[in-house]
Amino acid sequence: MNTVSPDRPLQDHDWEPHIPRMARILEIRRMTARENYFKVQLPKPLGHRPGQFVMLSRLGIGEAPISISSGPGDDNFLEMVIRETGRLTRVLHRLKPGDQVGIRGPFGSGFDLETFRGQDVLCIVGGLGLVPLRSLILPLIAQPDHYGSITIISGCRTPADELYREELEAWAASGSARPVSVIRLVDQTANLPWNGQVGLVTAPIATLPLDPQRTIVALCGPPVMYKFVIMELVARGLPLHRIYVDLERRMKCGVGRCGHCQINRVCCCQEGPVFRFDRIGTLQEALQ
Ligand SMILES: Cc1cc2nc3c(=O)[nH]c(=O)nc-3n(C[C@H](O)[C@H](O)[C@H](O)COP(=O)(O)OP(=O)(O)OC[C@H]3O[C@@H](n4cnc5c(N)ncnc54)[C@H](O)[C@@H]3O)c2cc1C
Ligand code: FES
Repeated sequence: MNTVSPDRPLQDHDWEPHIPRMARILEIRRMTARENYFKVQLPKPLGHRPGQFVMLSRLGIGEAPISISSGPGDDNFLEMVIRETGRLTRVLHRLKPGDQVGIRGPFGSGFDLETFRGQDVLCIVGGLGLVPLRSLILPLIAQPDHYGSITIISGCRTPADELYREELEAWAASGSARPVSVIRLVDQTANLPWNGQVGLVTAPIATLPLDPQRTIVALCGPPVMYKFVIMELVARGLPLHRIYVDLERRMKCGVGRCGHCQINRVCCCQEGPVFRFDRIGTLQEALQ
């Protein structure tokens, strides 16, 4: 049997994994034509790790896994970005501040910040992939003394699809005082104003100044991106155990019971969605 252990044991929790806690929507903001930002208030702090997700529900409609976009902390607010794709997310997009949603979790392994201590960090994100990786980037940027340089490569289809633009620009601007650099790309400008680069997220990797033995990579985006990004990283000498990938799968229970999220015998909802690449690279279907 394949086992994919996280670097450290997950934290203990005092919540019942099958029972949603009710959260009140504080803010909903349109980010792009398809994505809305949500800020909700929970009865108690979630105590999540970067890269974990929750099962978000609306009574009588349904439930779906949604990544946590806020950084780990001890307050009881939770930020998410939700793309309208189907029945549940359509309903969520029509809710108003004051409405309630159910939250189960946090679930999954997430990123262990201890692994990143003292290392240069390279985050490569595509599209909605910035949403879970923001929960990692925020604590890295907040405590620059604990980490080496931080590089973020963020790509999306057109300028109109870019998420968290103001934050990306602010992180880039902070680079003069701190070792943060941000490379923003679009596949095409679609005749819209654009102050970043044009190309795929793989393009800048070949010329990045990076020390393969001191760099940890966190990767999150559409499945098609992973294979090509990993090929570029390997060509730069990055050992596979220094590459962490966030792999999303269809999920139902979130607690390893239903089997919906399995890659071979590995349950993505518990052992993932963040995996160290050398531990799953041999699993069939991992990058499909
Ligand atoms: C760990 C994890 C984290 C996620 N984080 C986010 C997030 O932060 N923001 C966000 O908007 N979405 C996120 N998703 C995806 C989200 O859970 C699905 O889009 C969800 O099914 C939408 O529910 P729905 O009822 O509106 O759509 P549905 O009616 O379930 O589906 C609508 C369409 O999307 C397709 N679809 C559904 N689920 C998936 C999937 N997992 N992969 C590919 N296609 C799918 C369906 O086939 C259908 O065509 C995440 C998924 C996972 C597994
Ligand atoms: S979602 Fe049910 S086993 Fe992972």
